[in-house]
Amino acid sequence: MRSNFFFLMFVINYSFAAGGGAGLDDAKLDPSDGLSIQRGAKTFVNYCLGCHEASYMRFNRLGDLGLSNGQIKEFLIFGEKKVGDTMVNAMDREDAELWFGIVPPDLSVIARSRGPDWLYTYLRSFYQDDKSTTGWNNTLFPNVGMPHILWELQGIRELEAGEASRLGQKTVTKMEGALNQTEYDSFVRDLVNYLVFIGEPARTLRVQIGIVILFVLSIFLVLTWVLKKEYWKDVNQ
Ligand code: HEC
Repeated sequence: MRSNFFFLMFVINYSFAAGGGAGLDDAKLDPSDGLSIQRGAKTFVNYCLGCHEASYMRFNRLGDLGLSNGQIKEFLIFGEKKVGDTMVNAMDREDAELWFGIVPPDLSVIARSRGPDWLYTYLRSFYQDDKSTTGWNNTLFPNVGMPHILWELQGIRELEAGEASRLGQKTVTKMEGALNQTEYDSFVRDLVNYLVFIGEPARTLRVQIGIVILFVLSIFLVLTWVLKKEYWKDVNQ
């Protein structure tokens, strides 16, 4: 009976571990790296916001990273939007369905549902595929409706010959991009860092509050100790 129980625990444990990492590359994010998040924000407005919204996210939330409203306006906002506006676009949902077969999902909390490693792997796994309507496919997300927006940076990849029908296909470079692989990886890492940030923008603040609370509690601890000594002073003699 007991050994069954341990076996069960082992299986549960093991399946969680496998579910977390199977086939995904480690994004090696540093969520405390504000500059990385800022670079990612720039990439997001330039390359993603045209199709995807981040409707829970206001532009001026980037003030948390030390950007002034003026900087946000200058570097990140095109057109008529104000710094207090949310990151939405003007794309018509029906057009989107017509073009891509599906409305591009809102990316506000995508890092929480997919996880950073998934996003990091996904954005590096596109390959050229003549059989798909967009001309692109993705080894992590087969038959994805999204074209490879960053192909000029990454270059063009194609399936390794003979591997096409297998799961977990390997791709090879067909055409070099503007960035080499290390540069492209770190470009994507910044973008994912930003997606994690918008999924939970108050994280840094929460950690700081936590530290202050521990500090205050530790003062109380000392006070309690002093009080105790005071109360028991006479009794303990
Ligand atoms: C030309 C329009 C377009 C652009 C630009 C675009 N995407 Fe997409 N994206 C889509 C569509 C359409 C889907 C839905 C794909 C599907 O479900 O088949 C999608 C899906 C995704 C998904 C998967 C969501 C999920 O879990 O189902 C992620 C993540 C994503 N996009 C991230 C990005 C990022 C990051 C950028 C900017 C670098 C970007 N996209 C730019 C159209 C676009």
